[in-house]
Parts: sequence; C-alpha cells; structure tokens
Amino acid sequence: RETRDLSGHTVLISAGPTLEPVDPVRFLGNRSSGRMGYAIAERARQRGARVILVSGPVALAAPQGVERVSVRTAIEMQEAITSRLPDCDAVIMAAAVADFRPREAAVHKLKKLEGEETRVIELVRNPDILADLGASRRGARPVLVGFAVETENLVAAARTKLETKKVDLVVANHASVAFEGDDNEATLVTRDDEESTGRVSKHALADRILDRVHALLER
Ligand code: C5P
Repeated sequence: RETRDLSGHTVLISAGPTLEPVDPVRFLGNRSSGRMGYAIAERARQRGARVILVSGPVALAAPQGVERVSVRTAIEMQEAITSRLPDCDAVIMAAAVADFRPREAAVHKLKKLEGEETRVIELVRNPDILADLGASRRGARPVLVGFAVETENLVAAARTKLETKKVDLVVANHASVAFEGDDNEATLVTRDDEESTGRVSKHALADRILDRVHALLER
C-alpha cells in the first residue's frame, strides 16, 4: 500500500517485554517476541509517520527510518515514554510490561544454599504505563492504544481495559495465536464498536490498527 496518510504525525510504539532484574544474571519477564510492535512501527513509518519505538530486549532489527529507544525495565520504559510524550500524537502500547518487579535486585549473583528447597522473592507492583497515560491525558491527544492478551472472555476483558485505562482502542488477542508466529487474530474494540480481523499477518493487523489510529487522529 502506498498511502502516506500518517505524515505529519508522531507515533510512539512500545514493543517487546520488560525484564526485571533479580540479580546481575537473572530476571523476571513476559513472553514477547516484539514482532507485533515492530510490525506496527514499520508500517507507521512506511505510511509517513515519525516513529519512536521504545523497545524492551528483543532479537529484532529496528525497521528503516524508525527512532529506536532501547530499555530494559518497566520503570525505564515509562521514563522513555513520558519524556517523549509532548511530541506524540499517538501512543501504541504493544509491549508486554511486567506487572511486578523484585523489590530489590541483588548486587551479586544469588547462590543456592545447602538444603534450600524454596525461595521467596518479594515483588512490588510496577506502574501501569498505559493507565497512567490515560489518567493524565487532557483532551483527545495523544490517541492511546492498548493490547489485551487473554485466554478467555476476550472482548469483555478488552472493554473493561478500554474503560479502566481510559484509552481509545484495545486490540484483543487470544494468547494461543498472539505469540511468536507470523500471524495474529484480533478484535479491535473501541467505545462505539468492535471488529474482528480473522486470521491475518502481523503486518496486515498493523495496518488495520493504524487505519483506526488514523481515523481517531482525524476525528
Ligand atoms: O492490564 P494488562 O496488562 O492486561 O493490559 C495490557 C495493556 O496495558 C498493554 O497495552 C500493555 O502494554 C499495557 N500495560 C502497561 N503497563 C503495565 C501493564 C500493562 O502499559 N504495567
């Protein structure tokens, strides 16, 4: 597709997991290849947007022309996003942000002790980056898009997320198809309607999401 319908707009996309350190060699994190977010970044750039890609650790090259900011933890991701927010017309949170992090990361590698069969690591809540963006937004900018990966009651969960996080669009994915592969299948949930995509490539889904973002930017 040749359209440059996003020119003049800055779109920030988060992608990949956040990894929360336990010690210098261990972490807690989510399963996420980053492919969905990178596909959105690539298509948004091809459609003319200035694209800022805030990425957790993934094994993907930055798409051509995209400004990548590499982060590791949820706190770093939040800082990278909020500091760039004044530039942004839309924020698409495709990252799999860890909900919790170890209260403190050990300075030295943890050792297993003789006879130790269980280990407790205390976790504290990470900020909900998207919900914080929704709560602090005044007016219609930036357009906010979230993802919902669930194993059941997909659309109901997405609608709840739309309302509690105060966002414009939630992309609801079934966990069984969302990970690692080339394809995805989603329902796009907005305040007014919901649209199922059927099984499509991640690039085709990226375009469907960006069509919605474009419509929200024009509104
Ligand atoms: O609440 P849940 O994790 O299912 O919401 C998923 C959406 O919220 C995704 O768009 C994700 O990027 C975002 N999120 C976030 N900060 C968190 C957890 C999720 O921005 N701590």
